[in-house]
Amino acid sequence: MSKVKTAFYCQNCGTQHAKWQGQCNSCKKWNTLTEEVIEKGGNKSWKSENKSRVVSKPIKVQEIEVSSESRIDTHDAELNRVLGGGIIPGALMLLGGEPGIGKSTLLLQIAMKIGQKVLYVSGEESQQQIKIRADRMNTSSENCYILSETKTQYIFSQIEALEPKLVIIDSVQTLHTDYIDSGPGSISQIKECTAEFIRFAKETHVPVFLVGHITKDGQIAGPKILEHMVDVVLHFEGDRNHIYRILRTQKNRFGATSEIGIYEMQLQGLRAVSNPSELLISEKDEKLSGHAIAVTIEGIRPLMIEIQALVSTAVYATPQRTTTGYNSKRLNILLAVLEKRAGFALGTKDVFLNITGGITIADPAIDLAVTVAILSSYHDTDVPDNFCFAAEVGLSGEIRPVPKTEQRVQEAAKLGFNTIVISKFAKIGRPNGSINVLTVSKIETLVSTLFG
Ligand code: TYD
Ligand code: MG
Repeated sequence: MSKVKTAFYCQNCGTQHAKWQGQCNSCKKWNTLTEEVIEKGGNKSWKSENKSRVVSKPIKVQEIEVSSESRIDTHDAELNRVLGGGIIPGALMLLGGEPGIGKSTLLLQIAMKIGQKVLYVSGEESQQQIKIRADRMNTSSENCYILSETKTQYIFSQIEALEPKLVIIDSVQTLHTDYIDSGPGSISQIKECTAEFIRFAKETHVPVFLVGHITKDGQIAGPKILEHMVDVVLHFEGDRNHIYRILRTQKNRFGATSEIGIYEMQLQGLRAVSNPSELLISEKDEKLSGHAIAVTIEGIRPLMIEIQALVSTAVYATPQRTTTGYNSKRLNILLAVLEKRAGFALGTKDVFLNITGGITIADPAIDLAVTVAILSSYHDTDVPDNFCFAAEVGLSGEIRPVPKTEQRVQEAAKLGFNTIVISKFAKIGRPNGSINVLTVSKIETLVSTLFG
């Protein structure tokens, strides 16, 4: 009998080692290596019987045929945009996210809406549980088949019989294949099962969605190589206590990354939010200090967001700086700039900053609105009604232009803002009459204009 081949995998980063050792060579974590059987041999084709596989041949690039209706419409505007216009046939897409964020809900909803034959395979829920979920979402479909199964060979034999146009696997961590001996969720199982689905998708041109669990630090559980293997990596995120969910692309071989889709979790499932700007700005009756509106861009879509700041007298010797949805190091930089350029003694003040709606923004174009919100709270003077901001603040207090300023101005005009403050050096065409464009070059000038 041939010897079973085993190797030691780091459960943190997925690096393979020939022998056991205390520390992983690659990520330097201790005690993360476990032994896994890597090979049991046998025919690794995804097909159940040993059909002879078509051998791939080189073809000239201009001779490769691409069908015209290449992308499949998901009937979900947000997902279509995130994917770059729909699903590419034969694509393997990985959807990651925290437990309970709504991954299964999103994919079941797509399976119900897409209008083509879909096989939804769940290793986590029974068929009855999925039916209850579907009833809760008030949807039904003639074309959605549910299978509760975890062994890939059985899944493939069902796929061959059913011939679906889309396969959804919830989740990749529950799958196991006959060719690997270690348990479901182990690095080698995840890698091999994903590889089987890649072979399947590329040979049959049927797209596959895989749900992936994530670890404590927000990475998709399993080897990093998983993300290299698939065509698209999506992240479903958001604060579980907020109703908004954001779908982000981390990798997309067929479209732009940094595109986002926004959903609202309701009692009947997820609803696509087509005009997020209106929702991310809170309604208020009276004028309040410490609020400023910024125009940010996520992918190609401008978004208006509200920044709230609270500046109060520090109680401890070291003042507190707390942020939600904004980089706290960036806040410290802006505070230092204000101290130096605008003469504010912020060293004796606690500063709290919040981006409403539970979203996180890394776009530097919101710097100016952050600065203005802080100053507004410091002076206890509200920012004039209907003002919004889009510029970066440099280390010497200069207001710098940001990309796509013109698009930001248009979004602000569309939403009925009176005035947008941008950098003097931003290049934009003639603004359309409905909005005033205020250009500034230094933070000092803006302070005297707004709070002077
Ligand atoms: P789920 O899709 O099971 O999350 P995941 O697969 O990412 O673990 O979503 C579960 C959460 O969504 C659960 O806490 C309840 C909520 N939910 C609703 O609010 N409305 C609904 O219609 C559904 C189906 C779920
Ligand atoms: Mg789930």
